This record gives sequence, C-alpha cells and structure tokens, in this order.
Amino acid sequence: MITIHTIAELRAALGKERFKGKRIGFVPTMGNLHEGHLQLIDQAKGSSDVVVSSIFVNPLQFGAGEDLDNYPRTLQEDQAKLASRGCDYLFAPTDAEVYPHGREAQTQVEVPVISDLYCGASRPGHFRGVATVVTKLFGMVQPDVAIFGEKDFQQLMVIRRMTEDLSLPVEIQGSPIARSENGLALSSRNGYLSTEELAIAPALNQILRDSEKLILDGNSDFATIEEQAQSRLESAGFKRDYYAICRRSDLQPAGAEDRELVILAAAYLGPARLIDNIQINR
Ligand code: PAF
Repeated sequence: MITIHTIAELRAALGKERFKGKRIGFVPTMGNLHEGHLQLIDQAKGSSDVVVSSIFVNPLQFGAGEDLDNYPRTLQEDQAKLASRGCDYLFAPTDAEVYPHGREAQTQVEVPVISDLYCGASRPGHFRGVATVVTKLFGMVQPDVAIFGEKDFQQLMVIRRMTEDLSLPVEIQGSPIARSENGLALSSRNGYLSTEELAIAPALNQILRDSEKLILDGNSDFATIEEQAQSRLESAGFKRDYYAICRRSDLQPAGAEDRELVILAAAYLGPARLIDNIQINR
C-alpha cells in the first residue's frame, strides 16, 4: 500500500490508474480503524479495481467542547490494518493540505433539513463539516464508488442527498453495521469506555431490538415505544440524547402507515456518546 500526503501526488497516482481504465473505490475515515472500517475496505475491493482510503480527522465536523483534540491518532497501526486487507492507497493529508485558506475561509456545503435533525440537533454544524470534507475528498480522489458505514445512518443519508443534489458522479454504497458478539456496534469511541461502561453499552442495541419486536408485532404507538426505550436506557446508566422511530426515506417521524422504518438512537455513556440504529420493514 502506498501512503500519500498531498493532493498533487494523489492526483498523479490515481490519474495513472484511471488512464488504465481502473474503477476507483473510496473509503473515507478518520482513522483509529476497527473491524467495521476494514469491512468497508472489503466491500470497496468487491466493487472496484483500486481501493483508496483516507485518514483525516476533520476539524470542521467537531463542535466546541467535543473530542477533536483527544480523538485517537494511530496512523502506523491503521496503515498496517489497511495494508493487511489489500487497500492500495492511503491518503493522509494535513489540515493545511485540506483547508489551505484556513477553516474560517473555507467554502462549505450545507444539506438542508436532514442535517438539522437528530445528530444534527445535538451537534450543530456537524453535518455541514461532514458534507464539506466529503465533497472535497470526492474532488481529490474522484472515486467511482464510495462506501460508508450504516452505523452513521443519518450521515449516509446526508451524503447520498449531497451527492445527488450536487450531481457528483459517485456511486454511494452503505455497508451493514459491524458488531461485537454482544451486539455493541463497533466504534472508535468505544475506546473511551471503562470496563463497567463496556458491560452496559450493549443495552443500546438490545433496546433497539426490543423496539423492533414490538413494531413487528403490530404496535404502532411509536411515541410510547420511544419513551419506554429512553427510560430503559436511563435505568441502564445512559443519559438521554435521542431515540426516534423514523421513516427511512427522509428520516421524518414515522406514522402508523409507514412500512420502511429506521430507529435512530444516540445516548451518552460516561465520556462517550454512542449511536446505533436498526432498520425495520413492516
Ligand atoms: O464517518 C467518518 O469517519 C467521517 O464522518 C467521515 C465520513 C470520514 C468524514 O470525515
């Protein structure tokens, strides 16, 4: 695997691949890679000839008081993991390479409505930062296909909408959530949890599964299901963020007549904010 730090070198290397007619698959990440990220690489390998991953801890998507400074930077370990899964190129730019005029002067990409819900309400400006950096990375890599994890379901929807609205010639693929045996969704932020918190964390997925069962059994009283789930999360030791039964097409609150649903959930556990979701077809 070749590691590249500048846009000029990246363009030169990928230009040669494109000239040979290779289809380019792209997996953007913020590093601190776990098995979930590596499954995105596997999927990219199945959908393209040349796989590019990026590691960039994007300051634009972190709010004041969030974990930007403490976010784990583990480039050497990440390089070894990517290489072991057959990734061809790693693009690891500096802040100055990505934002040469500074963050304040950066043109930004805003995906309205959907960016203000759920994670967007809890983390104002977060999805503007994500949409901006992904648009820039797409411009740098010019991939044919890009893979994103379904754990960040709202992020995936924001990126799909942005790609469509800006007519970007990139196929967006989602990849199923990778989980530990106990159901906990894999996340770089699980590393912030103590042993006790790690024992509590799988309750988030269990509660989502219990809500799924209620809905598949015919219960359409979504407000009550949401409130009971929030109470159970609190009893387990979480602090509330949101728990929302949504229409999968646009993430608006689901009604009794909706068939394709997703439950989006976020909750605080000690120093970490965990998110998870479950897709339901009625
Ligand atoms: O999901 C992530 O790791 C990030 O939000 C992404 C898509 C790499 C943009 O910085």
